[in-house]
Order: sequence, then C-alpha cells, then structure tokens
Amino acid sequence: MAELPSPAWRRADRAAEAAPAACDTPEGVLAALLDSVEGGELHVRPLRALLDSGRFARFAEIGLALRRAFRDPARRDYFLSRLRPHLRYVIGLLPASIQRHGMLPPEPAVLPPDALQLEQVSDAELRQWLVDDGSLIYGEFQRYELENYFDAIAPYVAPGGEMMDLGSGLGKVVMSAALALPFARCTGVELLPYRHAMAMERRAQLLARAAGLLAGLAQPAPPSPDVPLALPSGGAATLRHLLELEARIALREQNMFEADVSRASLVFIYSTCFAPLMDALADKLARELPQGCLVSCTTFPLSHPAFRLLHHFPSNSVAWTSVFVYQRIGAADGPPPSPAYLYAPDPDEWEASARAECAAYDAA
Ligand SMILES: C[S@@+](CC[C@H](N)C(=O)[O-])C[C@H]1O[C@@H](n2cnc3c(N)ncnc32)[C@H](O)[C@@H]1O
Repeated sequence: MAELPSPAWRRADRAAEAAPAACDTPEGVLAALLDSVEGGELHVRPLRALLDSGRFARFAEIGLALRRAFRDPARRDYFLSRLRPHLRYVIGLLPASIQRHGMLPPEPAVLPPDALQLEQVSDAELRQWLVDDGSLIYGEFQRYELENYFDAIAPYVAPGGEMMDLGSGLGKVVMSAALALPFARCTGVELLPYRHAMAMERRAQLLARAAGLLAGLAQPAPPSPDVPLALPSGGAATLRHLLELEARIALREQNMFEADVSRASLVFIYSTCFAPLMDALADKLARELPQGCLVSCTTFPLSHPAFRLLHHFPSNSVAWTSVFVYQRIGAADGPPPSPAYLYAPDPDEWEASARAECAAYDAA
C-alpha cells in the first residue's frame, strides 16, 4: 500500500462569506465554476412519477405492503420474521423506504380490496426489494469532503483518461471532477430518470456559467487556449480544460451494471448504501476494466483478487466514511472470492434493536 503524506484534511466548507473568486484569470474562472456546482443532498424527489414508472411501480406496491405490516403492532412478529432471513440486504435496522421520511407515498384513506399483502410477496421478491431500497437512498460528499477526495486521488491520476461515477445522482462528483482533475472525460451513470434529468439541468447551468465567465476572460482579447491553468489539487492543464468542458462532461441514464466501463481510468462509487451490490460490482469491474484502472469506493471494501488496495482513508479523514482506492491489476479469473462485504448482523441482536425501533415508532 502506498504511503502518502497525511495532509491536513478539511473538516468543513469554507465560510460562505469568503471572498468570491476573481474571474479575471483561468484559475479564478475554475474556482468560481467549482463553487457553483450545486449539492443535491436535500433535493425534492418527484415520488409519484418515479413510483408509477416501470420497475418502481412494483417497488412501491411491495413497499406499501411491507410498511402496512410494519405499522400494525398486531403484525409486527410477522413483519420481523420476513426481514430476518435477509439481514445482509437491510441498510441500517429497518428499510429506509418504510420509515416516516422514506420514499413511499401515503396510503389512500380506504385501501383497495386488491391491495397487495406481504404474505403474497415471495422471499426472492422481498430480497430484491431490499436491494433496491438501499440503492435508492441518496447521499453525497459535502463540498469539503469532495475537495479532500480530489487531493487524495490526484497523485494517482494521470492526465487524459476517463473518470466514471457509477450511480452519479445529480452529477456533482462528475462535474466537479471535470473541473478539478485533468481527465479527458468524466462520465456519470445514473439509474433513476428524474435524478438523471436533474443532473442534465445542472450540467446545462454549469456550461452556461462557464460560457459567460470565459467570454469575460476573452476581454479585451481572447487568451490562447494553450495558456497554462493550475489545477486546485495540483497538476497543470491549459485553458482548453475549460474551453472543452462540454465535451468533457457526459451523463447517461443507465443501470451501472450495463455501463461500458472498458475505457475508464478511474471509477468512483459512493457505495455506502450498496452493501448487497459490492460483490456483483467487483465481479463486473474485474471482468471489464482495463488493467491499471483506479477504483474508489466508500464504506465497503472491494475484496477481489483483481484489485490491489492502494490506499485506505479511514472515516473522518477524507470524508465522514472510509474511502478505499484500488487498482485493477492481474487476472480476473481464478476462484470466486468469498463474499466480501461481510454485512451480516447477528439476527437476535438485530431483532432486539428492531423491536425497540418499532416501539419508538409506535410511541411517536
Ligand atoms: C449515494 S448516491 C451517490 C450520488 C453521487 N455518486 C455522489 O456521490 O454525489 C447513489 C446513486 O446511485 C444510484 N444508483 C443506485 N443503483 C444504481 C444502478 N444500478 N445503476 C446506476 N445508478 C444507481 C442512485 O439512484 C443514487 O442516485
């Protein structure tokens, strides 16, 4: 594992009143654009449209059946007994969607007679539902965590190449990486149509802002595209880095398991809610990534012989959660690795805590 000097990690965002970047240099324009990339942690989720669509219509139906069983104290034992065989797939104590602020819509006042009952949901369907429930949770690095991450990864990044964010949400990492790091292209792959659409809007806003600031920079005479540009995490580029921003940021609405990763040089995965997906992801990446490609993920390691751990940044260093950086190296074949995420709570301890959580829910 490479020993890097331990930088003084940032612990918070810069004060809002910090002087805005002066936009009369390429570095100033870059800083202003980075500042303008919006966070999406608290974005409004158009649930109705999401849950009425395709595979998520069934997700909503099963979720409502599960939530009714959870909310009814008389059915609590049955509810817990259905979850118990699938604890490896539950993120936290109880699934996110069924909780008070979860993804599911309110029930109608009168339940239709044909409303799905939990008893009609098979174990296999419930397990898949739990996987989807974890995948749909939204979270992202705060700006200062992203800055830490770029500082951490920059020593490994060679200019050129393609960065990919698998599960790119509202596109904050993709757009910020295209600004801060010397990639030829940064690509985001997002499953949910509404998140992809919001990311596309944010991309358009960023490009419009870039066009305006670059037009200002071109007064009284346009600078040469070859004028040097110092990147914030170290390394040098030229003004082309900003002039070609549109071609350097790509966003796709796609399932990451179907994404072409064969030209990637860094794959970023905010995998904190992807515990049940880690082995399948490791398998895909081992088979499809080019040799030497970097992979970084959060919270859960990528334990597969095709990946060498370059660095582990423990929680509360780069970010609130741990960050792993790997390199794709060696053969992808060989004996299948044992399950890597080791996310298997003790069932009795889980049940005691889950009952306490249910009681707190009843009392609220
Ligand atoms: C924790 S968020 C991270 C967003 C972004 N990468 C960031 O760090 O700011 C994970 C995202 O992955 C998306 N996602 C979940 N499963 C996916 C899949 N199979 N393919 C593509 N995206 C997926 C979710 O919709 C969500 O937007």
